Order: sequence, then C-alpha cells, then structure tokens
Amino acid sequence: MSTRQVFDVAVIGAGAAGMMAAAVAGQRGLSVVLVDHAEQLAEKIRISGGGRCNFTNLGTSPAQFLSRNPHFCRSALAAYTPQDFLGLVRRHRISWHEKHRGQLFCDDSSQNIIDMLRSECDEGRVAWRMPWTIAQVSRLQDVFLLEGPQGRIQAHQLVIATGGMALPQVGATDFALKLARQFALKVVEPRPALVPLTFEPQAWKPFAALSGVSLPVRVSCAGASRTPAFDEDMLLTHRGLSGPAILQISSYWQPGQPLQIDLVAGQKLEQALLKTKQAEGKQLLSAVLSRWLPKRLAECWIVQEEGLTAQMRLAELADPRLRKLAQGIESWNLSPTGTAGYRKAEVMRGGVDTDGLDQRSLQAKSVPGLYFIGEAVDVTGWLGGYNFQWAWASGVACGRAL
Ligand code: FDA
Repeated sequence: MSTRQVFDVAVIGAGAAGMMAAAVAGQRGLSVVLVDHAEQLAEKIRISGGGRCNFTNLGTSPAQFLSRNPHFCRSALAAYTPQDFLGLVRRHRISWHEKHRGQLFCDDSSQNIIDMLRSECDEGRVAWRMPWTIAQVSRLQDVFLLEGPQGRIQAHQLVIATGGMALPQVGATDFALKLARQFALKVVEPRPALVPLTFEPQAWKPFAALSGVSLPVRVSCAGASRTPAFDEDMLLTHRGLSGPAILQISSYWQPGQPLQIDLVAGQKLEQALLKTKQAEGKQLLSAVLSRWLPKRLAECWIVQEEGLTAQMRLAELADPRLRKLAQGIESWNLSPTGTAGYRKAEVMRGGVDTDGLDQRSLQAKSVPGLYFIGEAVDVTGWLGGYNFQWAWASGVACGRAL
C-alpha cells in the first residue's frame, strides 16, 4: 500500500450512507478509500430492525423527516426512492417482506444488507482502511489529509458519513459535528431522538409497577398543533414510557413540554361508559374499564383517581364523575423530565445544518470537495425504515456528484 497515493475520494464512516456513497462513486470509476474506526462492519445495520433491518419504507416522503429546513431532503429522496433500493435488494436476491405500514424487512438477517453493500463496494474497487483511527483532518490546497496512528490518507474529495451519536457503545461519535465546526459549518443542536422518555421517580412510582404493560395509544405534544399525533403502541417501563408511539413523539418533544396521551387511541370512551352504566350498572368499574385498557393499568388508574376505589360499581358514579374519568383517560397530560439518552436512542436529532449544504450533492457550500451524508446531517426520519432510506438516498446523491 502506497501512503503517497492520492485517492479521488475518501469516505469516513463505513455505515449505511458511507458504503452506499463509496460504492456509487467507485462504480463511476473514481478511486475511493473507505475508512472506519470500528472492528465490526456496519454494527447499526446489523442490530437494526431486531436483526432483520427495516431497510426502507414504501411510503417515504419528506413529511416523515424532521429538519430545520423540511424541504432540504426532497431532492435526494426523489432521486433515489425506496423502489430504487428495492431494485438493488432484488438484484442481490435478498428475500424480504412488508411488515406494517410500508416497512420492509429482510426475511433472513440484516447481514444480507451488509453483504450486499460490501459487494457493491467491491464492484467499485473500493479500498478499505478498517479499523483505522483518524486523529486529524486538514486541507492543503486541493487535497484533504487524514492523519492518525496507522498512517496518513490523502484524497481530493472528502465525504463524512460517521452518523450520529446514538449508541456510543457500538462506536457512535460526534466526529461529523466536530469536523463541521472545524470547517466553520453550523450545527443544529444535537439531541437523542427515537428514545424512551423518563419521569421524576417519585411521580412515576405508581406506574413503575406496571412495567411491561403495552397498549395502543394516540400521542402528541400538548399544545403543539404543528407536530403530528402518532397512533402506535406504548410500553410502560420502570423509568417511564417507551414503545413505538413514545419513540416517535420523542423526536418532537421539547424539554418542559407535556405529552398528551389518549389511552384509548381515538375511541369514544365517554359515551361508551355512560351507555354501559345504563345497561350494566352493577358491573365493577375496574372490570368495565378493562374492556378498553389492560387490566393492570385500569386498576392502577382507578386507585389514582380522587374518590374512586377498586371495589366501586359503575352505577355508584354520577354521570359527571364518569365523564371526568373518561376525559382523563382520553387525554392524559404528563410531563417527562428527560430522555433515556444516547445509549438508548435509535438516532440523533439535529446535526450539520442543511443551510451550509447543497441539497442535490450534499457538498458543503463553503468548502468545495467536502460532503456530509446520512444521519450526521440535520435530517431525522420517523421510526419505520425512513432513516435508512435517507442514508441510501443521501449516499447516492453524493456518490453521483463526486
Ligand atoms: P451509521 O451509524 O450507519 O454509520 C456510521 C459509521 O461511522 C459507523 O460504521 C461508525 O463506526 C463510523 N464512525 C463513527 N465515528 C467514527 C470516527 N470517529 N472515525 C471513523 N469512523 C467512525 N433505521 C431504519 O431506517 N430502520 C431500522 O430498522 C433501524 N433500526 C435501528 C436500530 C437501532 C438499535 C439503532 C441504534 C438505529 C436504528 N436505525 C434504523 C437508525 C439507522 O441505523 C441509522 O439512522 C443509520 O445507520 C444511519 O446511517 P449512517 O451511515 O449515517 O451512520
């Protein structure tokens, strides 16, 4: 290996976006080197989707992404669609299935996707430096110089694909954010997203005992009319709330803001309870509520309510009290104190500010030859395959523009 070789392109980060960009650029005839500090290739792809990688979502549109500039992702997503990625998956004879709301998973294992990307890189004659540590990046005229304990790498163009800070235990770092700042690019404040939410331990005590209980809910951020509501399952945990509904809303939640949770997910509980009272007034309140809520949650909820006990019968409640009970269940307002942090988050929200990047190529407007792709950029998808679709699309957009 010659240390004097100047590659056309160096890609730092051999994850979803980095492998895609390297493969596309290599197959266009550019000399590409792919650099990663990890021992294991593409750990996040491997563990994604419960080991089966939810590799895209057929319903992908800019509406499922958060960014300071919600239009930025439009161009890359339109130029490389879920159907394009599916074409690649089919060409590699990977079997897949649709699980839920357009989410596509491997039938077998997420290793299929890693092997596919690796073989696409091989087809582009991509050179590998892995595991390889980069201590410093500098720019000398038209060459980027990457230096570290294992040696130096030189390239005319540099792609940063080191992802976000979620899951530091599998090698996630803030490399992209530091490098952006080094080159005077702005960064949108990063935060854990798609992450469980936590509550003040004393206030959460009554619900902590329900850890493991799961139910379909509708959740939104209280008073935030422009944020979406999510109809998904919610899971109660020892420290707070998790499950798809909470992971989704966590990306929108701002510290100090209350959540609004409809525990019956849009059903009309008030009318239903009043009707049931007329027909079956002798029924225990807890038994009736258990028709709409998991039994343990129904019992716990009644005990929390002023003036109600577990032994009460439906007929003992005046209509206004029954209405108040139903309204509380349909709109549970509660304020998380924080998130479970990057160690439990699926993604990072925020990142390299899209203001400084060209939306077609992902190139830094002020630093010709420098590109940022994937999760490092301030484009964050919902749960359900959208983050991988952004990684593929931004990787392809960059790989074609290099
Ligand atoms: P990615 O994280 O894939 O790759 C970054 C690479 O850069 C890594 O290989 C890392 O080792 C390397 N790197 C980091 N710092 C470096 C440094 N300083 N020097 C050198 N190399 C460095 N999304 C989805 O759409 N469907 C799903 O099913 C899931 N499931 C899922 C499960 C879990 C548990 C997590 C944590 C995340 C998901 N995601 C997901 C999100 C998805 O994994 C994520 O958005 C993409 O992997 C982002 O792709 P990138 O290529 O940007 O980063």
